[in-house]
Amino acid sequence: MNPGIYSQIRRMTAVLALAFLPAFAGAAPQAALTPPMGWNPWNAFRTEVSEDKIMAVAAKLKSAGLADAGYRYVNIDDGWWLKRRANGRIEVRTSMFPSADLKGGKTSLRPFVDRLHAMGLKAGIYTDIGRNACSQAWDAKSPNLPVGTQLEREVGAYGFEAQDMRLLFGEWNFDYVKVDACGLADYVADKPHVRSGSYRAFGPFIVRGEPERSNPREVEKLYAQLSRELAAVRPQGGYVLSICAWGEAHVSDWAGKYGNLWRTSPDIRGTWDSMLHNFDSAAERPLYAGPGRWNDPDMLKVGIGEFDGAHLTEARAHMSMWAIIAAPLILGADLTRAPQDVLDIMGNREVIAINQDPAGHQGVTVTREGDTQVIVKTLSRPGSKAVALINRGSNPSRAAVDLARLHLDPAARVTVRDVWRGRTSTLEGGRIAADLGPRETVLLVVQGSPRRLDAAYVSEMPARVRVLADGADALPPALRARWVPVQANSAPSGEALVVAGKPVLDGIGALVNSRLELRLDGEFKRFRASAGTMASAALGAAPKSVSWRVYGDAKPLFARSAPDAAIDVPVAGVRRLELVAEGAPGAAGLVAWGGAELSR
Ligand code: GLA
Repeated sequence: MNPGIYSQIRRMTAVLALAFLPAFAGAAPQAALTPPMGWNPWNAFRTEVSEDKIMAVAAKLKSAGLADAGYRYVNIDDGWWLKRRANGRIEVRTSMFPSADLKGGKTSLRPFVDRLHAMGLKAGIYTDIGRNACSQAWDAKSPNLPVGTQLEREVGAYGFEAQDMRLLFGEWNFDYVKVDACGLADYVADKPHVRSGSYRAFGPFIVRGEPERSNPREVEKLYAQLSRELAAVRPQGGYVLSICAWGEAHVSDWAGKYGNLWRTSPDIRGTWDSMLHNFDSAAERPLYAGPGRWNDPDMLKVGIGEFDGAHLTEARAHMSMWAIIAAPLILGADLTRAPQDVLDIMGNREVIAINQDPAGHQGVTVTREGDTQVIVKTLSRPGSKAVALINRGSNPSRAAVDLARLHLDPAARVTVRDVWRGRTSTLEGGRIAADLGPRETVLLVVQGSPRRLDAAYVSEMPARVRVLADGADALPPALRARWVPVQANSAPSGEALVVAGKPVLDGIGALVNSRLELRLDGEFKRFRASAGTMASAALGAAPKSVSWRVYGDAKPLFARSAPDAAIDVPVAGVRRLELVAEGAPGAAGLVAWGGAELSR
């Protein structure tokens, strides 16, 4: 054999080995099995943060009953660091964290962490994946920026991943780290703070709002490395890694492999429009979240700006939206000043229970008309659904949804619990409806009987889905930036699902050359779907043919090359089901797994 053939065989073996590796072999040990809950000082204090302020809020979390309600993580954000010493160790700003001063020149946040732990709370910290932090680029007037030489001011983790993770998690015993990304975005050579010599030029690996000019692979590589170093310090797991790349660098496509939550948008501001923008960025990605991996539309602004004590309707709406999409609930207000009715909104146990439901399904939008939107979140109790009826606009409106869209039996008894009003009623007429005031959200828990006791749509159980390959690299950049590669109940383009010319309400929309994994855990007997290629306004005609394949624990269960395929396969005992829609390499096109359903 000639050497060319050897290298071809080697390549093929490598490809095969990759294909059969257990998916997400490198994923962080299980943590954050429900969305993390806690408090972060950034929204209230920016870099004017101090140990006293944080401890006052920690005490309030306890006394107001919020810690008992689940808000356990007390996180430090930007501003805690003084400098990086020549030996690489980071020094703490002891003027703000006096307990970190161990005398003799050594600083440590261990005493601070110990105090939080002794209160039954958990402790979080903050770093950057690049050389420098956000405040150094964005808060130039802050008195709390790192000091010293150019190198001493490089407090970000780049090049110090192992040493910093040992310090934060080994020595200081933190439980949570938020890893920001300004170091990859805001230190390009022509920035004034770089030209002045204050900071070293770096990147850009992220150009905000321009994924095609960013370098997603490099960004992913850096987060992967930090996550590995963190896992090495804490092989037993139990820590939370929060990736803060603001929805840039296609972060949703890869972040779940390394972190437990990832920002899907820029920083939230205390305005209704900013809140809606951030909400949408996470709400449109239900198939990316699940236990241990959450879309993060940013910290809550409840208690701040247009969500303060004078805007309780907006505050409840904001809280409802984060709850229904299983977003992390990280409070941002100064709790020591928050009025009781704001604390009551944060602490509403029924709302929190919707967010923290152990099945971990993110809510899925089932209708959106004008300013009204209805989102349904499947809860773990059979026949139980949380429903958010949302009025995004400033005029009163009516929102409604048929029980049939919740896949509940209209003939069986159905109760509806309004969790903000604390009222339960029996539903008549098979339709859930609410008259909504401006910016009002009504949040319900609907308890009925499943339409079919033995079956459920995959789009009702988004936490069971993992995107192994999304086919999105084949999209033109403008579409790549806008579309969500895998969608529940619609195509990645947002268009309605259509299979063989017929509209389909429930199913998964994806792209050609995608691979989806469904976690069955041996709980189901059959998988059914009407798969088909789809036309779209942006890409034109439907792909002529696709190779539809279904694997159960890597064994082929179904294979057909055609534009459409009716799939009905036994899956008893299968733990991982894989759905493949393969087309020509590099082809862009839409596919639908219409009516994709699992039955018991
Ligand atoms: C970025 C993050 C914010 C906050 C600041 C700190 O903007 O997105 O959440 O951490 O940096 O400087």
